[in-house]
Amino acid sequence: MTPKELAGALQRQLNPRRARWQRPAALVRALGLRRGQAIAEIGCGPGYFTPRLARAVGPSGHVYAVDPEPAVLDVMRRRLRGVRNVTPVLGRDDDPLLPRGRCEAAVLINVYHHMHGGARFLRRLVAELPRHARVVNVDWNETTEFGPPPKRRVPRARFLRDARRAGLRLVAERAILPHQYFLVLRRAR
Ligand SMILES: C[S@@+](CC[C@H](N)C(=O)[O-])C[C@H]1O[C@@H](n2cnc3c(N)ncnc32)[C@H](O)[C@@H]1O
Repeated sequence: MTPKELAGALQRQLNPRRARWQRPAALVRALGLRRGQAIAEIGCGPGYFTPRLARAVGPSGHVYAVDPEPAVLDVMRRRLRGVRNVTPVLGRDDDPLLPRGRCEAAVLINVYHHMHGGARFLRRLVAELPRHARVVNVDWNETTEFGPPPKRRVPRARFLRDARRAGLRLVAERAILPHQYFLVLRRAR
């Protein structure tokens, strides 16, 4: 990532106006996190959600904030300022490198459409989570006018096909965001 690309990404992702459509408080509430839980934030970027997730699980909980882009992870780390229950994880493109069996939920927000080989990534992710863990994926609807160009999006149906192949099944869906789907998955039996 060039310095110019990094600056552009930070400008977009940390823009306070983003709250209008991203509804971060409602989104985090809908995750239904409990205090004391260990969770993974996959593709944390510069940390728009990271401190909010850290607050939701509380000081006895933990957030593993994963991103494969070192410069972005550095920004996230600097923005944490005193937040103690977050571990930045430099993941790989094909593997989040989470501590095995530890995270009760993995949250992906605006990430899956950035992944190359997302299906393989999901299989690695599932293998690193305990059986009862939830995976939540939030990404762009196919039809909304706002957001990335349509050809760069991952339609809901395509994500669900990849998820099924990774051994996940859809257990819930929340219609709380104007431009994005919100899918909750668990390991298939
Ligand atoms: C649009 S940003 C979203 C950041 C954050 N989730 C948010 O909503 O503000 C997408 C992030 O996904 C990361 N990413 C891309 N491929 C990834 C992968 N294989 N594993 C984890 N993160 C990835 C990128 O480096 C980038 O920081």
